[in-house]
This record gives sequence, C-alpha cells and structure tokens, in this order.
Amino acid sequence: MKNGKNKFEQVFDERFNRHRDELRWLYMELYENGGMFDELCTNMKEFFMSRDPDLRQRDRVREENPDWYKRNDLLGMMLYIDNFAGNLKGVMNKLGYLDKCQVNCIHLMPFLESPKGRSDGGYAVSDYRRVQEEYGTMEDLSVLTQACHAKDMNVCMDFVMNHTSEDHKWAKRARAGEREYMDRFFFFKDEQAVGEYEKTVPQVFPTTAPGNFTWLEDVGQYVLTTFYPYQWDLNYRNPRVFNEMIYHLLFLANRGIDIFRLDAVPYIWKTLYTSCRNLPQVHTIVRMMRMAVEIVCPGVLLLGEVVMEPDKVVPYFGTLEKPECHLLYNVTTMATTWHTVATRDIRLLKKQLDTVNHLPKEYTFVNYLRCHDDIGWGLDYQTLSQYHMEEGPHKKYLNDYFRGLAGMSHSRGELYNDDPALQDARFCGTTASMCGIETALDARDTEGLKKAICLDVMLHAYMFMQSGIPVLYSGDEIGQCNDLSYKKDPEKAQDSRYIHRGKMDWEAVKRIHNPDSVEGKLFSQLSRLETIRRQEPAFDCSADVWTLETWDQSVLCVVRQTGEEKLIGLFNFSEQDRTAWINETDGLYQDLISGKVREAKGVDIPGYGFFLLKRETDGETARAKFAHAERENRSRKEEVA
Ligand code: GLC
Repeated sequence: MKNGKNKFEQVFDERFNRHRDELRWLYMELYENGGMFDELCTNMKEFFMSRDPDLRQRDRVREENPDWYKRNDLLGMMLYIDNFAGNLKGVMNKLGYLDKCQVNCIHLMPFLESPKGRSDGGYAVSDYRRVQEEYGTMEDLSVLTQACHAKDMNVCMDFVMNHTSEDHKWAKRARAGEREYMDRFFFFKDEQAVGEYEKTVPQVFPTTAPGNFTWLEDVGQYVLTTFYPYQWDLNYRNPRVFNEMIYHLLFLANRGIDIFRLDAVPYIWKTLYTSCRNLPQVHTIVRMMRMAVEIVCPGVLLLGEVVMEPDKVVPYFGTLEKPECHLLYNVTTMATTWHTVATRDIRLLKKQLDTVNHLPKEYTFVNYLRCHDDIGWGLDYQTLSQYHMEEGPHKKYLNDYFRGLAGMSHSRGELYNDDPALQDARFCGTTASMCGIETALDARDTEGLKKAICLDVMLHAYMFMQSGIPVLYSGDEIGQCNDLSYKKDPEKAQDSRYIHRGKMDWEAVKRIHNPDSVEGKLFSQLSRLETIRRQEPAFDCSADVWTLETWDQSVLCVVRQTGEEKLIGLFNFSEQDRTAWINETDGLYQDLISGKVREAKGVDIPGYGFFLLKRETDGETARAKFAHAERENRSRKEEVA
C-alpha cells in the first residue's frame, strides 16, 4: 500500500494518468459534460479492479511487449458457433481441431442475444451481456476464453456498436415513448427531415432493406435504421450511449475477449447533409475507446471494420502518437485479389500492394480471402480505366465471371443486393467454389479439379505473403463449397450471404489425412504454408516488403526482407504456364516447398502455381547444392532425349 492505495490501484492510476488529459479533452469537446466524464472514469476503475488476475497478467505481459500482435505467429479463423460446433461448449471440444489448423486466434461470429428472424446473422443485439440461449451462457464464454488462453489462443468477437436490435430494452422503452430512451436513437416526426437526410446518405442494402429510415406505425415516427429496419442506429451524440457502450465493451473484455471487431464503425456519427460515414467525430470516439482499453485492459485489441476505399480505411489507425484501431481489414487488397483472378492481370494488385507496403509498418492489417460478408467491387477504377476497364462493365464482368458465365470461368456463386438502378451488385460464394472446386467436382473433371485446387492454394500462399494477421474463413481449410440450403429457410432466403455460411462438414474433415481427397490436398498444403510462415523471420511485420516487375502480366512477385533474410514469392494468376522474368543477382535461392536450390532468374511457373524462394545465406553449401541440382537436371534431360 502506498498513499492508502494497493498495487493494483497504482497500476490503474499510472495508466489513467497517461491518458487523462487527452481523454478528458476529447470527451469534453464532444459532450461538454463533466459529470458523465467522471462517471466514465469511476466505472473504468471498477472494471479494472474486477478484472480477473489472469487477464491482468496477460495485460501486463502484452504491455511490456506491445508489438506482440505484429509478428508472424498469429493465424486467425473466423467461424459461426452454431455452424462450427453447435454452441460454445461445442467450440471447446473442437479446440484440438483448431490446433491442428495451427489457428491461434478465433473470431467467434456474433453470439450475443439477438431475436430470431430479425438478427442479421447476430448483428442486431438485444442484450450485450447475454449469450444467445442456444449458444450457452456468459459463464461458458469465460470458460472458453480461459481454455483458449491456456493454449495461447486469442478470442475475437464482434462489438456491434452502430445499432441495437429493436428488441433491446432501450429500443423498447423508446418505443413506449420515454424521452430519455428516444434520445438514444434518432426519431423523426417529419417526413421532410427524413427526405433531407436521404439526399446525401447512401444505402447499405438497397434491395434487401432500401432507405435509411423505418416508419413506426405505433409511435407515429420514423427511426433511423441504416442497415435492416430492425437495427436501430444508436445516437452517439448522447454521452449516455457512449458511456454505456464502453461499459459493455469492458464487461466483455473481462470475460476474456482479446480482440473486438468494431462492427460498422464508420457509421456511428450522423450529421445532416453529409454521407454520415467516417465523420471526424467517429475518430474521436474510436480514439477514446482505444484509451479506455489501454487504461483498463491493455492486452485487448480493437479491429476496425471499415469496408471502404484505402484513403478512408487508413485514418482509422490514427497516428503513431494517437493511435485508434490496432488492426484493420485489408479489404481493398482482398477485392483486388479476386479481380486479379478474374482478369489474370496483376497490374492493379501490384499497385495496391505497393500502396499498402508504403504505409508505416506499425499499421497492422488483417488479411483474408473470404469472410462472412459479400465481396463489394470497391476497386481503383481510375487506374483500371487506364487499362480500359470501366467501372460499370467491369463490375458486370466480375459478377459474370464469378457466376461462371464469362471469361472461361469455373467459379460459382450468387449476386448480392443486385440493384437494377445502381448496377452495383456484390458477390457471394466460398473460396473453394470461386476457385472452381465445386464445378470440377460436379463435372468429375479431374484436370479441372487439380487446377482449382492449385488456384486455391496459390491464393492462400499469396495471402500469407502479406504483412499482418492472416485469417481463414472456417471451412476454407478443407475447401467447403457453396451451400444452397439457405434458400429453403424463409428467414435466410432473401440474403444470399448465407450461401457461404454453411455448416461445417465434419465428415469431410475426416478426409484431411487422405492425400487423394480435396480436403487432404488443401489441408496439407495450407498447413505447410502456415508452418513456413511461422518459421521464416522474413514474415515478421517489421520486414521490408516490395513488389518486383516480372514482365508477365499474370505473375505477381512480392519480396520480403529482414536483415539477411530475404524471401521472394512468385504467384501465377493465370491457368497457363508462365515465366517470371526476374533477375536477382544476390545469390542462390532455396524453393521452400520442394527444397531445391536455384537461381531467382527467369523462373518458369506452372498455371496457378507459385514459388517461395528463400535466399541462401550460406553461399558455399548453396553453390554445392545448386551444382548438384543442375547435374541432375542435365542427366534427366539427356534421358528424355
Ligand atoms: C457489418 C457486418 C454485416 C452486417 C452489418 C450490419 O458490416 O459484417 O454482416 O450485416 O455490419 O451490422
């Protein structure tokens, strides 16, 4: 005890003092309410004091090593609890499988209480402190996070902060006309006011949920609902909303959550005559959330869901002095990757990677090929028009390609929110189906299947080559295909995103050790890549990363280097064999997949193939191995002749 304070309180005070001035400044700037600020501080301390000692210890270790999530040892997987294992206890029983997948960060898709049939896949929360009944209880969640932590596994969850369900108690009381609760949402009596908003606010779900407002007959007013009509937007102009949402977040952090995915964060501040996206106040709020987390639970990370163009995404990292999110999705790279698959033209992807690679290395991205949402074709059309690809026709081409209708495609999937007026449909399907695995299996096309698997593996190898945290979409590790059963469920039938939200096929998982099966081929090759990623220092986020010209429009070359460790990744986005006309003169390289030593010059790459070439640091041994390989090559050629 010092000054009558125990050592925990001292830790709290120290962290709090570090941020107090800035936090107070921002809070007062936004809310001008000292009483509410004091309440926030008192509650933060309570959450800190009641935090489990193990979690506090986790915080301490991470505080000492703040770059812990910027290495090359994290691999994520996102999964739906019910599809994957029924409930939280079921997930516990599958931790062994996740280990096998080398996954040490699981993103549990929304699991808080949410009304059936009006839940948007759980993104309409009616109680932030209760687990959806079928999934288990808060206690189960704590038990699961503890078990995960014991394995050094992190747990991520969605924090749906832009809106609540219309069944949330605030919404119910607002609906009953209680002013205090109405002020936590946006109500409008007047149609004209609604019309004024609609002039500048774009639509998220133009076909499945048109408009941004919902008329409530019983209340005789409109309520702002940017997403579905049952998702009521919260009013962050009200400090009560901000404080309470922070308390919910800290409550969940104390259940052992390591990463919060800030769902739809760009939308949380609304101002008339703006797009109501990415307004400066959003950044103030995220910055305050970051400080709250750093004070109470510094082992916890914020992952922003900003599905926007790069110049909108990057500001959510904040600045190095005043950081906001720890992590952001590399969304444009993801969409550009699929564009590259459909065009076999890497130019835009190369440009996109160059942009990302020029950002400060402290900015950590979550990389992925597929997630639970649709793919929106938010590409750099200005650049594409230089390649004679214009926005409208190109979006159409991509949607046709991935439905298997154009461009010699074997992909399968469905459109999402196909708005005939905007011609702006997005796309849904699993990685495997988009790579052609489903088509080839149906047609019993062995050659086609081989190619599709190659493409799928190559895409993962390329995704792993990026700095940040790679995240697999559950089922992709065994090549799960589209699931059309959602069409028979009236609650899901309208939402084609369910095509890639199928149940985990545990029968198929049994085949992962069978080298002749699709599951076996994918699982083993992905495992190999994951091991390489963990073992090679060049995959650390602090490495320098750049692209090289290959003089072949279908072959992407990415180089990673840290100290003497240098790695070249070559990825052929065409089904044809190609040559990467690179000419690296700094020594010999080892192909990390085959183990062969070779030069990094004029590299022939089979269709949809890839190479991971590591520079040999021991020149002499490398030369001997290379000479040996060359001799073997020559005698093989002679034999053939
Ligand atoms: C996010 C989620 C999406 C959901 C929306 C509304 O964008 O990823 O699935 O529909 O938020 O909460």
